[in-house]
Amino acid sequence: MTVNAASRWSPSDYAGNAAFVPALGAAALELLDPKPGEAILDLGCGDGVLTEQIAAAGARVVGVDASEEMVEAAKARGIDAHVADGQALDFNTQFDAVFSNAALHWMLDPDAVASGVFRALAPGGRFVGEMGGEGNIAILRAGIREQLTERGYPVPPTDPQWYPGVEEFTRIYGRAGFVAIEAQIIPRETDLPSGVAAWVKTFRTGWMDAARVPEDEQAEVAAAVERRLAPRLRRSDGSWFADYVRLRFTMRKPH
Ligand code: BEZ
Repeated sequence: MTVNAASRWSPSDYAGNAAFVPALGAAALELLDPKPGEAILDLGCGDGVLTEQIAAAGARVVGVDASEEMVEAAKARGIDAHVADGQALDFNTQFDAVFSNAALHWMLDPDAVASGVFRALAPGGRFVGEMGGEGNIAILRAGIREQLTERGYPVPPTDPQWYPGVEEFTRIYGRAGFVAIEAQIIPRETDLPSGVAAWVKTFRTGWMDAARVPEDEQAEVAAAVERRLAPRLRRSDGSWFADYVRLRFTMRKPH
């Protein structure tokens, strides 16, 4: 989901280097347990891989994402997808459930997201999903910062993402009116079959833009980050992983 200036990616990079994102959404999807005939909103649907699975369960699903490119890719799969900012949702009590995988951390105004999701749900409706949680990609983030600093680039003061802990997350969604909020932090070492440089290229191009790294130097920076992080993110068999931490949650709008 592309929702702030520091994020920029292409569907082909995403499909080639980030196929693990929807694949790892399987547990959250199981928790959603979509039923035939239910109306479900997929918030931050990306290219629609998981949205398609929700539809396959017989639900009537609508996908929204802030990236036009991703919405086009989702539409190409036959998804009813729309460009929308998750921080300004314009739905009113029309969904039995809202689902979100690996998207909420891109939305830097979580109170606005929480109240928009609350409004979108029918009374008794559920909000289920997963996002980056506290400590997410700490090694990757440090490696990129160190590399940019070493090259003399101004490192943007804040990360372009929000990785809450359970307490903060629960407070925000409780304040929006949700009940039965259950959230847990799940550290999840995640295979990067295309390596760390491809991850940086796919997910941190916008951030490098913000640090004013010229476009023709970005591939070199990504490769240098990979070399720097090899001792921490490459296994002895040569495979790469990312130090992901998930926050998985379920909650309900009261009747
Ligand atoms: C995540 O799913 O945690 C994530 C994805 C892309 C960039 C950063 C984090």
